[in-house]
Amino acid sequence: MPIDPKLQLDEYSLVTTRLMKKHAATSEETADSDELRDSTAQLALILDLAHQAFMRHRPAAPIVHRLAGRLHRLRRQVAPAVWQKLVPLAQQHRVAEYLIQDPFTRWSVEKPRGYSGDAGLLDIYYKHPTADDIVASSTLLGRQIYAYTSEAASSVAGRERRDILARTVDETASSVAKAEVLAIACGHLREAERSDALAKRKLQRWVGLDQDPVSVATVNHDFAGTAVEALHGSVRGILRRAYALGTFDLVYASGLYDYLPRAIGVRLLQRAMELVKPGGEFLFANFSDEITTDGYMETFMDWPLILRSADDMSDIINAALGGSSFEAKVYYGSNRNIVYGKIRKGDL
Ligand SMILES: C[S@@+](CC[C@H](N)C(=O)[O-])C[C@H]1O[C@@H](n2cnc3c(N)ncnc32)[C@H](O)[C@@H]1O
Repeated sequence: MPIDPKLQLDEYSLVTTRLMKKHAATSEETADSDELRDSTAQLALILDLAHQAFMRHRPAAPIVHRLAGRLHRLRRQVAPAVWQKLVPLAQQHRVAEYLIQDPFTRWSVEKPRGYSGDAGLLDIYYKHPTADDIVASSTLLGRQIYAYTSEAASSVAGRERRDILARTVDETASSVAKAEVLAIACGHLREAERSDALAKRKLQRWVGLDQDPVSVATVNHDFAGTAVEALHGSVRGILRRAYALGTFDLVYASGLYDYLPRAIGVRLLQRAMELVKPGGEFLFANFSDEITTDGYMETFMDWPLILRSADDMSDIINAALGGSSFEAKVYYGSNRNIVYGKIRKGDL
């Protein structure tokens, strides 16, 4: 899918497969030919089994569950360079014709906004009413597959992340009068629909920043007349201190670090902490390296993510803030598919 030049992706986040591959290529080892041959045969078997089951009209959920589990194990078993060669082979297999009927998988592959993980895709797995038509107009098989993919542990964790964000904003508003909040890479800011503090007009401002003008326009339309205001801006702009945003009681980034290489993540954290008031907090989330949908996402959804452990999150925090005054906590969401880092800036 070509990238829409209007989006002006800043290449600081690896939000397209092309950018992700460019990044991976800089550290690529070569694939061992014996391992590649053996794993190609294993992959063919995995995909053929799923294809046959679809042809025999077996129930969709167990087919996709087994397929995703086998892809996850294969991804773990082989060298990263070998896995990268397997990804296009899986994508070209005829079983994709069945899987693409799932509205979630289809949107992810087709990338209507030109990049992976856009807010429209999240609306599909958030089960947001704006995605109802997309789901309802899918084939019966597509809806059956969606019933599985939208309830996969990673999707459940994504919905919990949205709720954690809303709760965190509400907690900030209950400890600070007229709280100011910044969401970096806000997407459609769906968490704001669940915030009690926003509904009760307790916030001074809730600024959302995103590189996608469609998402910025959606937020400004949906939250007109509230404390929410979305701005067009990018990670690159934040790193360059290009926006006069002021400071905030809470700054957070959700669904962004999954696309940021470590060095950019470290620099963004440093800049983000400049935007946090003394005593305020920065929260960031990342899909964890314990997810089991990684193989399915990278192949049939064409949605690679940079997965992180709690140690990786602590490493980013320490690399960014070593020497300064802060308190940090790293913790997993309830099914461990997402890991969170929360940093409180020391009072001056
Ligand atoms: C997975 S969505 C997350 C949306 C929202 N924060 C949420 O949790 O539902 C990722 C968002 O990051 C934005 N994004 C990705 N790279 C960005 C960059 N370099 N600068 C600004 N926004 C970026 C995308 O436009 C998209 O809206």
